[in-house]
Amino acid sequence: MSRSTPLSNGKALAITAGAAVLFAVLLLVLPTPKRQSPPTAPIKSPGTTGAPMTAESLFRSRCVQCHALPALTHRTPEDWRILVLKMNRYMQQTGRLFLTASEAQAVTNYIVENQK
Ligand code: HEC
Repeated sequence: MSRSTPLSNGKALAITAGAAVLFAVLLLVLPTPKRQSPPTAPIKSPGTTGAPMTAESLFRSRCVQCHALPALTHRTPEDWRILVLKMNRYMQQTGRLFLTASEAQAVTNYIVENQK
């Protein structure tokens, strides 16, 4: 009756060392995750690349992507600012054309100045 031959101490040591070296190499080789660019970095989307659009044309083109152009009923400037930011987040989440930070600001100003 023969037991399977146990590893010699030398072999076991070699295997352990080999595994350790392999692990270390993997750690070195695996790419360190790249830092995401900050959310303020504007991602160029079609329509924001060419000639600068006016706040009104931005409002008319961006704000009809999901619903009819919203009525500019009276809200406080702060309410509009928050709403435009929320809508802009929807645009980004659904992969639509969206507004850069300064465009969002311009659209908010346009709405506040033109609301009934
Ligand atoms: C990505 C799709 C999308 C785009 C683009 C979009 N909206 Fe909206 N909007 C929604 C959804 C969804 C709702 C309803 C849910 C909610 O109010 O959060 C809504 C609701 C609204 C409402 C009513 C909400 C309330 O609180 O009375 C207003 C006003 C509005 N949007 C304005 C805008 C303006 C201004 C823009 C352009 C800056 C815009 N939307 C662009 C998706 C969008």
